[in-house]
Amino acid sequence: MNRRAFLATGALSAAALAGSVYFAGRRGAGHFAAPDGAPLRDHAGARGLRYGCAVRARHLAEDPAFAALVTRECAVLVPENELKWEALRPTPDRFDFTAADAVLAFAERHAQAVRGHALVWHSALPAWFAGGVTTRAQAEAALRGHVAAVVGRYAGRIGSWDVVNEAVEPGDGRADGLRVTPWLRLIGPEYLSLAFHLAAEADARAELVYNENWIELDDAGSDRKRGAVLERLARMRADRVPVHALGVQAHLRAERARGGPERLSAFLGEVASLGMKVLVTEMDVADSGLSGDVARRDAEVAAVYHDYLAAVLDQPAVTTVLTWGLSDRYTWLSRQRPRADRLPVRPLPFDAELRPKPARHAIARAFDAAPRR
Ligand code: G3I
Repeated sequence: MNRRAFLATGALSAAALAGSVYFAGRRGAGHFAAPDGAPLRDHAGARGLRYGCAVRARHLAEDPAFAALVTRECAVLVPENELKWEALRPTPDRFDFTAADAVLAFAERHAQAVRGHALVWHSALPAWFAGGVTTRAQAEAALRGHVAAVVGRYAGRIGSWDVVNEAVEPGDGRADGLRVTPWLRLIGPEYLSLAFHLAAEADARAELVYNENWIELDDAGSDRKRGAVLERLARMRADRVPVHALGVQAHLRAERARGGPERLSAFLGEVASLGMKVLVTEMDVADSGLSGDVARRDAEVAAVYHDYLAAVLDQPAVTTVLTWGLSDRYTWLSRQRPRADRLPVRPLPFDAELRPKPARHAIARAFDAAPRR
C-alpha cells in the first residue's frame, strides 16, 4: 500500500458511525460510560483519522479471539518487534523476514495498512553488531544494505516507516542534543539524513517518520527535548531531507500526565509549520504509579487518554493514533513497569478478557470531538 493509499484508509468507514452514541466523560469523577458498538477505527475514520495498534506476530497466530479484536478495531498495524534489526538480522549476512511477513500477511488479509518500525535505533541491535560494525565505512554499508533490503522488500506494502527512532537525548551532553548511539559514534550526526535519503531511494512513495519519546509532558525535561527535536527537524527540512512526519510515542504514566499537554500542542503547531504531519505512534498509559481499586485506576487512565488526545487532535497535522498494544492481555508494561502490589497492569483500551474499558470510550470520545481532517 503506497503513501496515498495508506493515508486514505482513515476515511474508509465513516458511514459505520451513523447513529453512534456520544457520551460525556467527567475528569476524575469516574467513567467514560455508555459504550457504543462502533470500532475505534470507525470513530477515527469519521474524522479523517486512522487508529491502529502495535501487534506481535505470535499473538495474531496463536490467539484467535485477540486477532479478531485487532481486525475489528484497527485500520493500521505496526509490528511491535518483528522489523527491528534484532529480529531481522540473525547474522550479518542473513535476513529473516518470517515474523514480519506474517504480520504483513495478516494485515493484507484484513485490508489493514502497515507502519514499519524502526530502521535506525540504538536499541534492539543484534549481538553481532557491536563486534562486527566498528568503522564508519562498515556502518554506512550496513545501513545502506539494511534499508535497501527491508524497505525495498515491502515497497508499496508498508506505507509509513519510522526511519529514525529516539535520536535526541539532551541528557547525553552534546551541544546539538543528539543521543550518543553506535550510529552517531560511527557515522556522525549525518546518519539521520543518510537514513531518510536511503529510505526514500528504496520506496519513494512511503511516508518517512522521525519517531521520538519523552516529548509529551509540560515539564522542563520535555521542553529541552522538544527544542532539540524541532531544531533537528527544521535543519533536515531546510536541507531537503525527505522527512515527512514526526512520531510522538506517548508512553504516558497516569500519575505524571495529569493536566492537558499545552506545551506539546504548541510544539506540534511548530512541527506542522515546517510542513510536516504528526502521528501518535505508541500510546499507552501506565497505571503502576496509581493506587486504588480497578474502577478508580481505569477512570484515571481513561482521563489521561482523553485529555491528551483531545489536546493533540486539535492540531490538524495529526493524522494517526496508534496504541502500543490493544488489550491488557499483551503489553510490554507487564514486564517493564509492573505494579508494586503485583496486580496486573491496565494501560490499554481493552482489558485482559478483551472487554472494552473506560479508556476505549475515552479514546472514542476524543476522536468524535476532533476537528474533521
Ligand atoms: O523474543 C524473545 C522471546 O523468545 C523470549 O522468550 C523473551 C524472554 O525474555 O524475550 C523475547 O524478546 C523480547 C521481546 O520484547 C518480545 O517479548 C526482548 O527480550 C525484549 O527486549 C523486547 O522488548 C521490546 C522492546 O521494545 C525492545 O525491543 C518490547 O516488546 C517493545 O514493546 C518495545 O517497544 C519500544 C519501541 O520499539 C520504541 N519505543 C519504546 C517502546 C517501549 O519500550
